[in-house]
Amino acid sequence: MIENLVRKNILKLKPYTSARDSYLEGILLDANENSLGSVIKDEHNLELNRYPDPAQNKLRKNLSEYLDVSPKKLFFGVGSDEIIDLLIRIFCNPKKDSVLIPLPTYGMYQVACDVNDVKVLNVPLNKTFQVDIKATLEAVQKNTKMIFLCSPNNPTGNVLSKDSVLQIVKKFRGIVVIDEAYIDFRENSSFLSELLKYKNIVITRTFSKAWGLAGIRCGYSIADEFITNLLFKIKAPYNLNKLTSNAILEALAKVKVKDKFVSKINSEKDKLILQLKKIPQIRRVLPTDANFIVFQINNADVIFNRLASKGVIIRNRSKELGLNDCLRVTVGTAKENQVFIKKLKEIL
Ligand SMILES: Cc1ncc(COP(=O)(O)O)c(C=O)c1O
Repeated sequence: MIENLVRKNILKLKPYTSARDSYLEGILLDANENSLGSVIKDEHNLELNRYPDPAQNKLRKNLSEYLDVSPKKLFFGVGSDEIIDLLIRIFCNPKKDSVLIPLPTYGMYQVACDVNDVKVLNVPLNKTFQVDIKATLEAVQKNTKMIFLCSPNNPTGNVLSKDSVLQIVKKFRGIVVIDEAYIDFRENSSFLSELLKYKNIVITRTFSKAWGLAGIRCGYSIADEFITNLLFKIKAPYNLNKLTSNAILEALAKVKVKDKFVSKINSEKDKLILQLKKIPQIRRVLPTDANFIVFQINNADVIFNRLASKGVIIRNRSKELGLNDCLRVTVGTAKENQVFIKKLKEIL
């Protein structure tokens, strides 16, 4: 039962309540706001002098229509990074419980565990950066509450095999978080339909990548109602601000624009891969289902620094497990990609 995995203090917690939980309209004299207005122009008539809806109702309704999932399973956070932190706080007792993180992967899972004083157990992904089912299940300890899986995985770029992930989901008696930050670039590989069958899956996603909204900080989770309610219980009351919420509502009405970005980025990615593969000093270009490419090259550190000195900033991943001599480049505009290739060739 999921309930048994939750920290006792969180189960018992009496959440902060505000009058806005029950009333969003009327003569609002409950929250010590400034009834006269805001000091800045409220361009979209959002009533910026008023706190936002703590229940995120409109956002959840509109996202539920886009995903075809009940709004009761949806939660919005200040980036998916906030949701990662909240999940650890719901399930993991500091100094007692542990989280399993296959490597290499997104570094924030480790940081969020460290912040919460929660032990991390690492296990390597296999040679093709897939979950090693046996090693992963063997690494689980008595107090291991969660496993973080990232698909498509950052920084390797590949989606995880559905079959292996589901074996983990079925055999692990804890929460499996599947981070789908990059799923828009390979939509048919989502675990969303599996989530409806297994109560221990939490999917996290973000508006920071394909939707082009990294600057407004918004991510969301899809999970069983019990887990979703716990997220609402422990979040800061008004975590999502009105400017961000308004932008997300606008974005959800423009799914086609996002889809166009995805096709353009995916086709630029294919071109970039072809160009990278033609460079003799590049030993390997990893297959990718995301909006970035990892390639292996001699003297990766030097090349990374020289690119930066020429104004092209990519990411050095060469210290990550299984990624020696690897650099990661995000797919940019056609022009940016050409400048990147040109400068890289100049250096070589
Ligand atoms: C795998 C993965 N998950 C989550 C995030 C963070 O997303 P957000 O901007 O929604 O906090 C990133 C950002 O790079 C990421 O790579």
